[in-house]
Amino acid sequence: MKARILVIDDEPAIRETMRMTLEYDGHECLTAGSGQEGLTLAERENPDLVFLDIKMPGLDGLEVLSRLRGMNEALPVVMVSAHGTATTALEAGRLGAFRFIEKPLSKDYVLDAVREGLELGTLRRENRTLRSALETRHQLIGEGAALKQIMDQVRRASPTNATVLILGESGVGKELIARAIHRNSLRAKERFVQVNCAAIPEELIESELFGHERGAFTGATEKQVGKFEMADRGTIFLDEVGDMSAKTQAKVLRVLQEGEVERLGSSRTIKVDVRVIAATNKDLEEEISAGRFREDLYFRLSVIPIAVPPLRERLEDISALVQHFSAQFSRENNRRPARFSPSALDVLRQARWRGNIRELRNVVERLLIMGDRDTIEADDVRNVVRADSRPAASTAPTSAGAARPATLREFKDWSERAFLVDKLREFGWNISKTAEMIDTPRSNLYKKLEQYGIKQETDA
Ligand SMILES: Nc1ncnc2c1ncn2[C@@H]1O[C@H](COP(=O)(O)OP(=O)(O)OP(=O)(O)O)[C@@H](O)[C@H]1O
Ligand SMILES: [Mg+2]
Repeated sequence: MKARILVIDDEPAIRETMRMTLEYDGHECLTAGSGQEGLTLAERENPDLVFLDIKMPGLDGLEVLSRLRGMNEALPVVMVSAHGTATTALEAGRLGAFRFIEKPLSKDYVLDAVREGLELGTLRRENRTLRSALETRHQLIGEGAALKQIMDQVRRASPTNATVLILGESGVGKELIARAIHRNSLRAKERFVQVNCAAIPEELIESELFGHERGAFTGATEKQVGKFEMADRGTIFLDEVGDMSAKTQAKVLRVLQEGEVERLGSSRTIKVDVRVIAATNKDLEEEISAGRFREDLYFRLSVIPIAVPPLRERLEDISALVQHFSAQFSRENNRRPARFSPSALDVLRQARWRGNIRELRNVVERLLIMGDRDTIEADDVRNVVRADSRPAASTAPTSAGAARPATLREFKDWSERAFLVDKLREFGWNISKTAEMIDTPRSNLYKKLEQYGIKQETDA
């Protein structure tokens, strides 16, 4: 990798040797004869790595080091000195230099430091991007009264140990809210264990939740620790809790009442201290009247109920959400942020959002991928949103710039792929559910995923 390296040293001979060494190794070399000049260059030229002399007239190396770090904490700095004493080396380390080398400079040492420094810089930058991506990924965005109320409920529920039941349609942000509660709770440093009760086959859910001993049933060749045990001292998130069988409901109720679990195939009880957050997109009261959900479990779970309204009932949040997803997308993909025109936002407000916020996010990302432009207009949105409400053929690429299929075969594959991705997103990448909803055997869906190389997009 060709890098831009800044050498700050008051001795002209050192600057020249360094320049020769670095340029010979294929790098671009900038030089500065004083601390002040070095700082100015660093600010203007944004180098990948700095070699910094400790003893210089004027601003000394340590002072420059701390200012460089203040400018860009990911910037790797190598300290250079002829008079290196242990204490300055220590001090330099404390201030964030990652290497200390002594004059006379050996070419091997210099190039070694370059390699290590560049790797370190890449790691630090990746880290920083990941961290900020994670932080913004978990932010709850919205300005309307509904979201304010939800944030208020999150704030009040978080520090308690009370069980929370989050209700709302698919894609409204139930998982995001569950995570927010955990993150703001006293258990934040412990685990957040998620169990999707709808995705786990009936015969496996109990051993998944409560664990089993070796030999508990045919096929149990190893003992397994259950999710409740894993979540000890932390939080368990029972997602799609409305899909649990009667038998599992009874067992979960017992954990809630007694605070203890029993692994399958064992009569030993294990105490667990777990906070439960549950979520469902089903109408539990209806499930209760239909005899499919236990009323006593419902009361246990809904100590603090949080009802999340669908996006169509909080259109006032659309503009802030669009801006948030667009900013996030451009940050993660190193693109200039695009603006959505007021009429484009209007079209978004008029669309039907059956997949709620998840669907809105996908639409925003699709718009940004397809049209590489500064402002997204109403017509751009119409192309994508219309394509969303009609399946298959209408999801064909538009004139907005994506590659167009040339043959009928390509077109068929293209639209089949687009349809599947769309449906998978709508059902949260739950394969069984998607297969059921689009009325195809699960095995066929798996085959298609492989054929088209479709991979689940991760949320966090
Ligand atoms: N208020 C919000 N601010 C920012 N992003 C949000 C908000 N609500 C939801 N999202 C985003 O929308 C997507 C769907 O949210 P989430 O997975 O929490 O929904 P859900 O209700 O659990 O859906 P499902 O019922 O399908 O599991 C996620 O990418 C999430 O980050
Ligand atoms: Mg969810």
